[in-house]
Amino acid sequence: MNFRSDNEAPVHQAIMQALLDANQGFTESYGYDPYSEQFTEQCQQLFETWCEVLPLTTGTAANSIAMTLACPPYGSILCHEHSHLNADECGAPEFFTAGAKLIPLPGAHGKIDLPHLDRYLAGTGTHGEHECLPSVISITQCTESGTLYSLDELRQLQAIKDKYGLALHMDGARFANALSTLGCSPAAMTWQAGIDMLSFGATKNGAMMAEALIVFNPQLTQQIKRLRKRAGHLISKMRYVSAQLCAYLQDDLWLQLAQHANQMAQQFHQGTTGAVEFIHPVEANEVFCRLPLAMIESLQQQGFEFHVWPGSDDIIRLVFSHATQTEQVNQLVTAIKAHG
Ligand SMILES: Cc1ncc(COP(=O)(O)O)c(C=O)c1O
Repeated sequence: MNFRSDNEAPVHQAIMQALLDANQGFTESYGYDPYSEQFTEQCQQLFETWCEVLPLTTGTAANSIAMTLACPPYGSILCHEHSHLNADECGAPEFFTAGAKLIPLPGAHGKIDLPHLDRYLAGTGTHGEHECLPSVISITQCTESGTLYSLDELRQLQAIKDKYGLALHMDGARFANALSTLGCSPAAMTWQAGIDMLSFGATKNGAMMAEALIVFNPQLTQQIKRLRKRAGHLISKMRYVSAQLCAYLQDDLWLQLAQHANQMAQQFHQGTTGAVEFIHPVEANEVFCRLPLAMIESLQQQGFEFHVWPGSDDIIRLVFSHATQTEQVNQLVTAIKAHG
């Protein structure tokens, strides 16, 4: 029973069907196909504004291309120390920006500590050409700890971004899960809160390698298509990525799938409260908890699969997906309670 990653979940049937439906005859290449055009229109309706939309195949590409739009080689990017950008992309943001500097910042539960960010930025600008130019703040929503920035926290970030004149990027690999919890509009969680660039994830929530970079700030899009091509991410048969993304948004499928995943996490949380120690608030579809070593071993022997979190031997991460079944969560809860 797999609680290891939403990346390990299958592709949702409606998205697989959309791929089959798109696989008819010839159509334009390199993003000039009807599916790519439709997805841009869907995004503009969904976000209630103009935006430039690049379908991509990985979140790392979306994040890295976003950085090239707003960060020069001599710039710096402020992000959480545990962000995917900093911890899991093998230097891709630095590589694509031709050497920009990532500044990893601390903060509880995967969120950048905002007073710390403000103090850090207030301390820059005194060292002339010896220091990198702060250019982008990148946040993750949901965070790598399964938590969320509230709308109020997003507004505080917007104030900091405006104060220092930086661009604001959101890594939304699990954007749908975050939106489903906050219950606000996509616009409220993005450009209305000062987000200039969004890495919009679909892969973890039912798609097959389909992501998009969505840019709301027209000042950042001048050379976006060249930068994508140069990064090796202009996909010739883009219809197969875009067809997935169209189906993902169709009839709110994306929100239904995320809501289900989040509900599974809540079911686990409620079922085991008092029996395990939760490391972070459970706000979306990822749960981090501390368990006795003997319980971890016993669960593994019973066939429950999950990650023991790097850097600790008694903290596990459970990820619930669109394909997780209620019964599977019940079995895990029962196994934990039986042990305790
Ligand atoms: C927070 C976050 N950002 C981005 C990504 C995208 O990663 P990938 O390049 O593997 O698609 C992931 C995937 O694990 C992630 O968890």
